[in-house]
Amino acid sequence: TKNNPTVFIIFGGTGDLNARKLAPALYNLFLDNWLPKQFSIIGTGRTKLSDEDFRKKLLDDINQFSRSGKADKKKWDEFSKNLFYQVSDINDSETYKEFGKRVEAHNTEWKTKATVIYYMAVSPNFFPIIATNISKAGLAVDPETTRIVIEKPFGHDLETAKELNQLLAGIFNEKQIYRIDHYLGKETVQNIMAFRFANSILEPIWNRNYIEHVQISVTEQLGVEERGDYYDGAGALRDMIQNHLLQLLCLVAMETPVNFSADEVRNRKVDVLHAMRKFSPDDVRMSAVRGQYGKGWMEGKEVAGYREEPKVDKDSNTETFAAVKFFVDNWRWQGIPFYLRTGKRLHQTASVITIQFKDVPHKVFPTEAAESWQQNRLIISIQPEMSIRLQVQAKRPGLDMILNTVDMVFDYKGTYTAQAPEAYETLLLDTMLGDQTLFMRGDQVEAAWELIMPILSTWTNKKSLNFPNYSANSWGPESAEALIARDGFNWFSLPLASSKK
Ligand code: BG6
Repeated sequence: TKNNPTVFIIFGGTGDLNARKLAPALYNLFLDNWLPKQFSIIGTGRTKLSDEDFRKKLLDDINQFSRSGKADKKKWDEFSKNLFYQVSDINDSETYKEFGKRVEAHNTEWKTKATVIYYMAVSPNFFPIIATNISKAGLAVDPETTRIVIEKPFGHDLETAKELNQLLAGIFNEKQIYRIDHYLGKETVQNIMAFRFANSILEPIWNRNYIEHVQISVTEQLGVEERGDYYDGAGALRDMIQNHLLQLLCLVAMETPVNFSADEVRNRKVDVLHAMRKFSPDDVRMSAVRGQYGKGWMEGKEVAGYREEPKVDKDSNTETFAAVKFFVDNWRWQGIPFYLRTGKRLHQTASVITIQFKDVPHKVFPTEAAESWQQNRLIISIQPEMSIRLQVQAKRPGLDMILNTVDMVFDYKGTYTAQAPEAYETLLLDTMLGDQTLFMRGDQVEAAWELIMPILSTWTNKKSLNFPNYSANSWGPESAEALIARDGFNWFSLPLASSKK
């Protein structure tokens, strides 16, 4: 329930994730009265800090990263009373006893059993040791009140994902495990289900009879930044497709759940992954392409190629771009291609799903009438533009019959004044409430790995590549254009964010 007193224990308390995402999200939840009256946030890490140092650090972080801007003095004082820091050695059982004592002290003070959330904001190498030690200290025993939150990567491939799942399953009940895919917390991503399942006009056309193909693009202008050590061992397929893009695909392709319970929704999503066509090595060659960025110019500045980035191998064959054509082999989607692409250092930052409908069966207008002729498209813009637009043909006003394409638009900015919460606010709140709908279940993670394993192994086995094969600020390698052009389509241009108010 909303008001159950809660203790957050954040491993990696001085780290980047806490600074940029968790602390600002918790603070905003506090401002909006979503935190219970009694709560405590305990950051932990190797660095020696006092509670006061920790509070100061988080205040700086929140001032820098919170969507609500600079913290208000009075509110901050109220909030920061509940912030604590504990130096820890994750290998040492004493550390965990200390957490146990702190939780007990809160329980006594609050005269109740608090919800305890262990947040793994640390490198995945540490998940096993932390989880094991939590268990050894007897801190995971109550499935109703103890939860663990972990961040991707959930394994490096199918095998290691299974190992991680098994390890966690030996300690926690699945109901206690919150695997974050932050895309699922985004307001516009949550809206895909609302849009599909709260409107009766869509369902009849949401299938292979009316839809011609689907494109899902998640493009980024950013390069690999400071994350070379992680990214060089991962690549775009693992970093983005295995999780975020496949989850978006599931939301578009899933059957209607009978209700909105966490497992019902997740069952319908995992059904999609199970229905997806597995690749043979030949399919990989025909249906998946990869790229790596070379140097180029972005917004007037020269930027380095991927191989010149910090902590990246000078001869790296890691892909920073991937495009894949998938099929979902079921009644609804048989034969309908889903084209996914994602990459770093591309020309534009945008996450967009476009659904292109089939052409009219017979054109009654003379060819000259069509100034532009376009099949209907439904464009779901996730970010930075937040909108859903339906593109239709209409008659241009005038005495002649001239058709062109116009947009019917729902955009967040024009419709709502309320600011959309950050994904982490939604997800942290759901962790407190015990709602797993927007979190990855273990079997979903494995099903997604299973699907991409043939691509991963084919790519890993073929080392000698002509990388880099696209320059920064382009749309990726030519092979990505060829992939979709072979089917007679092209990647659609992505909507630009409507200017900020
Ligand atoms: C993360 C990836 O999961 O998602 C990053 O590891 C990527 O490489 C990021 O940049 C994109 O998220 P968003 O919310 O900025 O689209």
